[in-house]
Amino acid sequence: MRFAKAACMSHEAELEVLRQKQSAAAAPAGEDAIARQHDRGKLTARERAEALLDPGSFVELDAFAVHRTDAFGLADKRFVGDGVVTGYGQIEGRQVFLFSQDFSVLGGSLGEVFAEKICKVMDLAVRTGCPIIGINDSGGARIQEGVVSLGGYAEIFWRNVQASGVIPQISLIAGPCAGGAVYSPAITDFIVMVDKISQMFITGPEIIKAVTGEHVSFEDLGGATTHNTKSGVAHFIAADETDAFEQVRHLLSFLPQNNVEDPPTAVCSDDVERRDGGLIDLVPSSPNLPYDMTEVIRRVIDDGDFLEVQALYGRSLVVGLARLGGQPIGVVGNQPNMLAGVLDIDSSVKGARFVRFCDAFNIPLLTFVDVPGFLPGTQQEYGGIIKHGAKLLYAFAEATVPKLTVITRKAYGGAYDVMCSKHIRADYNVAWPTAEIAVMGPQGAVKIIFRDEIAQAADPAAREAELVREYVERFATPYVAAERGYLDAVIDPADTRPALVRALRMLSGKRAPRPARKHGNIPL
Ligand code: HXC
Repeated sequence: MRFAKAACMSHEAELEVLRQKQSAAAAPAGEDAIARQHDRGKLTARERAEALLDPGSFVELDAFAVHRTDAFGLADKRFVGDGVVTGYGQIEGRQVFLFSQDFSVLGGSLGEVFAEKICKVMDLAVRTGCPIIGINDSGGARIQEGVVSLGGYAEIFWRNVQASGVIPQISLIAGPCAGGAVYSPAITDFIVMVDKISQMFITGPEIIKAVTGEHVSFEDLGGATTHNTKSGVAHFIAADETDAFEQVRHLLSFLPQNNVEDPPTAVCSDDVERRDGGLIDLVPSSPNLPYDMTEVIRRVIDDGDFLEVQALYGRSLVVGLARLGGQPIGVVGNQPNMLAGVLDIDSSVKGARFVRFCDAFNIPLLTFVDVPGFLPGTQQEYGGIIKHGAKLLYAFAEATVPKLTVITRKAYGGAYDVMCSKHIRADYNVAWPTAEIAVMGPQGAVKIIFRDEIAQAADPAAREAELVREYVERFATPYVAAERGYLDAVIDPADTRPALVRALRMLSGKRAPRPARKHGNIPL
């Protein structure tokens, strides 16, 4: 819609033109389109911006922008705002920038002007050192604008990469998102998907059917459950949009505004000297029985407030954000409840990306170790567990934030090294007396080094049991590592919280030199 300015207008008439433009911008595709969006169980782009931000804080930019192409009927479809709402506002009083795509305008598809609007808020976010949040609801590159749309996406991708590790980038997926509308989120730090109303895919079910003959529904292909459980593309699943906004706000409460600020400390109402005599009982006396590492984490951190990241993916490793003595931390823990806490491809990749995020944004790392090793088998070897496991090793070794490690039970083999050991420059390493640090578990070890002796024994089973006992006493304890200083202390589990709070405070001024290089070459 265009409103021409007459040669000589009164101020009242000029204000009337402004009001008409504002009203056109409020419902660019008309009231029916808004109703259709609501019928799909979705809020409009502007409603989303308002609901996410602190009440009344949203300031819109470029509300009157319109596209420049006349091709393929677009001359008659010039929507005010060009299908994306952009601007800034506050979350818990801290400034953020955002864009919110409007599916009711040409399917939220991205053209030249749409892209320019997003680029403008991304540039402002970087220039002012503030997080950027994208609410995505888009069919991808606007077909009618051809290569100009592709160029627009590439401009966004380039900015995503430049901003990576500089400001937090969060993507909310709130509708069907295809093509470029999924690649930009993929580069950002966190993806929150709204259950049932959002999907992400490179090509939709129709194209898949045509190319491969495979039949798959939108939801199975790219729904929130698929990307939270199978692909690992998404980090959070929200029951509805309100829940998604709450999750984003909770997430941001742990994060600094940018990479040169420290994360925001909170007033700590949980006693920093709080001991917990029940922690040791969480670890079963049999080394092969499971327990829940998230329970250990919750009992050590402030107020049990643990924001688990990718809770449904790579579940033998737990990662998430928490606070210790009011200071935000990133927590990584093997999960004995899932595959005995083994490291596999999915958990290694998940852990590596999380560790790198924390390191980029000055968030100290706390690692809880109970790991029997890497998952054996052809599926893992063919899938590249060597290079994927190396990612986690690389990420922990590369991280220069304060690093604290607690070994609760098993720390076997290469996984001992990987899980933020002293040797890869953790700053404070402790173990509970229940810890077993060894090249491998007792049963496997004695079978290898005493194979002949066991075979020749009068009672092989009894001899093997005896050798296992000896091995456990000699090797599968924390004290060999403590004698060498690989552990700074063996502590009573009850003292874990006070010990960690003290260590974190001791490390608050940590400075770590980094090698002069363009960038490392993490095995991707
Ligand atoms: C222009 C588009 C569009 C697009 C949708 N629309 N996608 N217009 N360019 N990319 C329009 C439709 O024509 C329709 O207009 C309106 O948006 C709603 O779309 P529907 O198909 O009716 O909605 P729905 O059934 O909900 O399906 C949504 C959808 C589907 C799954 C997103 O529209 C779709 O598959 N779109 C194409 C997705 C895609 O292949 N994109 C990739 C582009 S390439 P009317 O006027 O009828 O309401 C890309 C590459 C970037 O992005 C670079 C990557 C590295």
